[in-house]
Amino acid sequence: MRAVVVYESLWGNTAAIARAIAEGLGPGARALSTKEATADAVAGADLLVAGAPILGFRLPTEQMRESASREATPPDLTCPSMRSWLSLLAPGGGRSAAFETRISWSPGSAASAIDKELQAHGYARLAPTARFVVKGKYGPLRDGEIEKARAWGADLARAMGGTGTA
Ligand SMILES: Cc1cc2nc3c(=O)[nH]c(=O)nc-3n(C[C@H](O)[C@H](O)[C@H](O)COP(=O)(O)O)c2cc1C
Repeated sequence: MRAVVVYESLWGNTAAIARAIAEGLGPGARALSTKEATADAVAGADLLVAGAPILGFRLPTEQMRESASREATPPDLTCPSMRSWLSLLAPGGGRSAAFETRISWSPGSAASAIDKELQAHGYARLAPTARFVVKGKYGPLRDGEIEKARAWGADLARAMGGTGTA
């Protein structure tokens, strides 16, 4: 099984979750930023997992990313938004799963928008969307979220007929 986990991450929380999901998926699964996840890197993936933070109650918009640059803790804006990455995604025939990082009490979602786009590009949903929670506005992740992400990755691998490693 060829699995790719693609992430948008401005303060590092979603990147850490993406790496843990890839670990759980098992050997061969890679976590790639939206910059690293080129068309070639994603082509032929049996499983495409994608995740982003919620910003302003939704999948980050270009405007939200731009205003985030004025935050007290500066974001890393060197990689494209998940929104723009999805808009350039070539049609595929694999399975998909979407996740988000967020604070616990917020309304809105980033994963549901990702989920919808992945399906629109031909990737059939393997599992319901997953959410991973941070303690404060910029993180860090709540205790146990990395382990939860690893376990989710292993669940996805099993759903694909593999074993996973969590
Ligand atoms: C400017 C800003 C706006 C945010 N808006 C929301 C929000 O609407 N809902 C939410 O659940 N979390 C919100 N968060 C929390 C982020 O989703 C959380 O810190 C996320 O893990 C960041 O991911 P990253 O470190 O991968 O960029 C916001 C954080 C910042 C800094």
